[in-house]
Amino acid sequence: MLGPVETVDEIDSTNRVLLERARAGEPHGRVLVADHQTAGRGRLGRAWEAPPGASLLASVLLRPDLEVADASLVTMAAGLAAVDACSGVAGVRPTLKWPNDLVIDRPDGTRKLAGLLAESLVEGGRLAALVVGIGLNVNWPHPLPAALDGIATALNHETGHDIDRRTVLEAWLGAFAHRYDRLDRGVIDDYRSACSTLGRRVRVERHDDVLEGMATDIDEAGRLLVEMAGTVHTVTIGDVVHLRPI
Ligand code: BTN
Repeated sequence: MLGPVETVDEIDSTNRVLLERARAGEPHGRVLVADHQTAGRGRLGRAWEAPPGASLLASVLLRPDLEVADASLVTMAAGLAAVDACSGVAGVRPTLKWPNDLVIDRPDGTRKLAGLLAESLVEGGRLAALVVGIGLNVNWPHPLPAALDGIATALNHETGHDIDRRTVLEAWLGAFAHRYDRLDRGVIDDYRSACSTLGRRVRVERHDDVLEGMATDIDEAGRLLVEMAGTVHTVTIGDVVHLRPI
C-alpha cells in the first residue's frame, strides 16, 4: 500500500517538497499530488510545465532497502505501473522510452505521454529515501500548445474523451505498490518487454557527445546499451531520440 495521499491545489514541485520531508524523517509511502506546479522539475535539470488540472502530477516517498546503484529498479517499476494504469483506466497502452518516458508511437513519430523523475536522498553512502514523481498528461486542451505539437500527447487526445485523474492516480499507486512489494531483478525483464527503445535506431544526446546507433539492451543496472560502428556504448545518462529505420 502506498499512502496516505495528500492533494494540494498549487505547489512549487511535489518532488522537491517530498525530498525535503524525507530529509526531515517523513516515513515510507507518503504521496503528494498537485493540481498545478509553479516550478515542476524534469529530468536533466529541465522545467516540467503543465496547465492547472491537465496532468497527473504526483510524487511518492519511498524508503527502499536497496543499494544506491539499484534505485533504478524502483523507477522501472513505477514506469511499468504507469503503463498498467493507462491501459487499465483509459485503454491506452504506451511503451517506455529509455529511461523513464511513457510514449505513444505513431507512424509520424513518437509522442510523449508522461515522464518520471526519481530523486535520491543518500546518507552515509546509503539510499535513505527515493522520491519518484510522475507527470502524466491526462486532460490537455485541444490543440496542444504549439511548443508541444508533434512531440507530446495526452490520454484525452488518445481516447477522444476526458479521463478522471483520480482514477489514474489510484491505478498507478495500486500497480506501483504491487510491483514494489515484489521488487527484484525480474523487473528488468518486464521493462525490456515494455521498452520501445530496444531494437531501434536511436540518437543519444549526452552531456559531452552524441551517439547514433542501435539500442540493443538494458543491462542489470538499468543502463542502455547502444551499438555504434561495431562498438557497444553503455549509456547511464542521456536523452534518447527514436529514429526511423534506414
Ligand atoms: C521528465 O523530464 O520527463 C520527468 C518529468 C517529471 C515531472 C513530475 S511532475 C510531478 C513530480 N514533481 C516534479 O517536480 N517533477 C515530477
